[in-house]
Amino acid sequence: MGQPKILASYLSGKVQIVVGDITQQNVDVIVNTANSTLLGGGGVDGAIHAKGGPEILEACREIRRTRFPKGLPTGEAVLTVGGQLSARHVIHTVGPITGIGKEPDAKMLAECYRNSLALAANDGLRSIAFPAISTGAYGYPPERAAPVVSETIESVLSAGTPVEQVRLVFFNEADARTFLKHQSFTTTG
Ligand code: APR
Repeated sequence: MGQPKILASYLSGKVQIVVGDITQQNVDVIVNTANSTLLGGGGVDGAIHAKGGPEILEACREIRRTRFPKGLPTGEAVLTVGGQLSARHVIHTVGPITGIGKEPDAKMLAECYRNSLALAANDGLRSIAFPAISTGAYGYPPERAAPVVSETIESVLSAGTPVEQVRLVFFNEADARTFLKHQSFTTTG
């Protein structure tokens, strides 16, 4: 499991832009682009459950039983074990769905990142890796997501949080470059 390929870093190195597989990130917690059922799916969701094993699904089922019988609402985030993953935990969050020709819901996308970072902070987790939430099956235009994601992460980090490292993981270099082109972090390096 080599070190991820770091394309760029921001906020004095606290934020790293990498190309790789979210399931292979050596951090305290990785974020899953779940759906409201919390019972798995394709993309990141499929990869995390396939790699992490049944413990994760069992923890998700328990959360559904005890806290969210109607499903996890968009923008919310929950924490589970990481099962067989190298990450000790998984945070499951449900991103907004953007219909064809519809305006993407920037507020809801920001909530996914904000709530995930808050969960990590509350649990004393110091390093977190995000995939590009909602930009796959859920259709959020990646160039529109980049400024929302960067502004949200920067506002949380500059307000003070015990989270020391935030990794944004892109499945391929083209996606990472699109993010780099449209992000709005104020300080590089
Ligand atoms: N590692 C990192 N990034 C990945 C991986 C992976 N293993 N697999 C896919 N991606 C990228 C996709 O290329 C996309 O850019 O993650 C981004 C998010 O894609 P999705 O996983 O499709 O997530 P999302 O758009 O939020 O849709 C969520 O899809 O799989 C279902 O159950 C899931 O219903 C939910 C919906």
